[in-house]
Amino acid sequence: MAELLATPGTFAFAGDDGFVIARAAAGEAEILTLAVAPTAQRRGTGSALVTAAADCARRLGAQFLFLEVADGNLPARALYRGLGFIESGRRKGYYTKGREKPEDAMVLRAGLPLSALGKNRAPR
Ligand SMILES: CC(C)(COP(=O)(O)OP(=O)(O)OC[C@H]1O[C@@H](n2cnc3c(N)ncnc32)[C@H](O)[C@@H]1OP(=O)(O)O)[C@@H](O)C(=O)NCCC(=O)NCCS
Repeated sequence: MAELLATPGTFAFAGDDGFVIARAAAGEAEILTLAVAPTAQRRGTGSALVTAAADCARRLGAQFLFLEVADGNLPARALYRGLGFIESGRRKGYYTKGREKPEDAMVLRAGLPLSALGKNRAPR
């Protein structure tokens, strides 16, 4: 984590219940990691972390925010969809776990600032 955070353009937001790490470079940004403690999920923390990362990426000059999510990670996919992310690509068999069948990664993209049309739209 320390090495990652020392990489130019990399930043993080963290609280007691979760964290997000992202990187911005050359007009684009990427969410590298997002996690919320199981005991604290479904209270808006994940959405707040992604929104904070998106705002920061925009201030750093990014016009688009990308991320990868496992095809079967339905909670995360629902979160990102609610914030306005759309699928922009797919990496076949990207995630491997022991002897389990490799899982595709969906590449998602959102323009910045986020303009969610869904229920997680930030209050104005
Ligand atoms: C994905 C994750 C970050 C979501 O964090 P969270 O704080 O629970 O998310 P939020 O409370 O902001 O949820 C926002 C929306 O996402 C969707 N969502 C979140 N968890 C969900 C679940 N378990 N099932 C279905 N939808 C879910 C819902 O639409 C939710 O809105 P709602 O609660 O009003 O219905 C969390 O589940 C997590 O840490 N998972 C393990 C790590 C991971 O998968 N990280 C992402 C890798 S790309």
